[in-house]
Amino acid sequence: MSLKRVRGTRDFFEPEVSKFREIERRARRVLLSYGYREVITPLIELKSLFERSLGEDTDIVEKEMFVFKTKSDEEISLRPEGTASVVRAYVESAMFRKVLFSRLFYIGPMFRYERPQRGRFRQFHQIGAELFGTDSPLSDAEIIKMATEILKGCEVSQFSVELNSVGCKKCRKEYSYKLKEFLLTKKDYLCDDCLRRIERAPLRTLDCKKESCVQVLTESPSILHHLCSSCSEHFEEVKKNLQLMGVDFRVNEKIVRGLDYYTRTTFEINSENLGSQNAIAAGGRYDGLVKELGGEDVPAIGFAIGMERLMEVSNITTNEERKGVAIIPLSVNFVPHALRIAEELRKDGVMVIMDYRLGTLKTQIKRADKEGVRFALIIGDEEVEKNVFSIKDLASGEQNTLPFEEVRRKIING
Ligand code: HAM
Repeated sequence: MSLKRVRGTRDFFEPEVSKFREIERRARRVLLSYGYREVITPLIELKSLFERSLGEDTDIVEKEMFVFKTKSDEEISLRPEGTASVVRAYVESAMFRKVLFSRLFYIGPMFRYERPQRGRFRQFHQIGAELFGTDSPLSDAEIIKMATEILKGCEVSQFSVELNSVGCKKCRKEYSYKLKEFLLTKKDYLCDDCLRRIERAPLRTLDCKKESCVQVLTESPSILHHLCSSCSEHFEEVKKNLQLMGVDFRVNEKIVRGLDYYTRTTFEINSENLGSQNAIAAGGRYDGLVKELGGEDVPAIGFAIGMERLMEVSNITTNEERKGVAIIPLSVNFVPHALRIAEELRKDGVMVIMDYRLGTLKTQIKRADKEGVRFALIIGDEEVEKNVFSIKDLASGEQNTLPFEEVRRKIING
């Protein structure tokens, strides 16, 4: 039986790996320029962390977590997202340290047992940022601006920011009641998931992607008409600050997000070029979560960009030019000499490979060509005798015999 990769996972080879790393590099540059510091948290967490933070009625917690029990009967989950872990780490480290960085970012794999399709995987990667300690509408705008800067920096030509506010606990309670009333009149048209959610999590129905539900919910009451005065003011300020920072956006009152921790600002960034899974990034404010997870009453906001989706719409082209050198000893006698040269060139930062199977010149050149190297450096009797090297440029086919210093210069200068 042949072994296959697990459904919904991917292998990355070149040139995709270079694109992945280049996106990471550009994203890091933007994040660092805004003062965000990298945090690395474990891929596994207690299952209860996600139940408590994302909410028990969410799709992720109900259906999508990869959960297992340890030998000591602890229930562990592969992380389905990064925010809960970062907040857990923030709260935990606050117990030991006085000074905490308030701006954190992370890049890494997440795991969700979803039905795989274009742009939707069971292991995917997120670039995420979280800002703690302020509920100033300027911070909402900073987070959204930064996400758009990363997308622009990664040469995404078309995307749109959709903005909403889900209010605070107080206004949401009132809205939930209104929404429930509306949903009860539409019971016949709702899917089973939405029917179940009418009582416990009516807002979640707004997130349903089933066509019949989407249709019904176009007539649902808008949360924006039910915000309390302080949430409404906050939302107005967020919009003003986004304009101030030059971020284009569209208000979409259906962006309620599928996770329980959100308060006030929520947003998604979509691209038409992605097909049905069109969200490249999403995020929002979660002012109650730090406290909920045992920390102080600290407001926070963040976003996560989906790396695989970003890769699909990014126009970054990675350099597929030939690079480096293959050292070709013409017999086993020249191997010690070849190894010395290889070491010296590597110290210069040159990529050097040697095919230890050796073989004829023709075979070795062929293999070097297949590996995509630029130069072949041939070491045989004549070369050792005269203390020179034959260097073949595999891009142009040109071959010269030169002393080492000239060879080195040629290789370094390309
Ligand atoms: P999310 O909307 O669940 O939010 O995920 C954010 C982004 O991750 C999505 O917009 C999408 O690009 C990508 N993504 C999600 N699921 C998959 C999947 N199965 N396959 C490929 N890409 C996927 C969060 O995770 C929140 N933690 C964001 C956040 C940070 N909110 C506040 N801070």
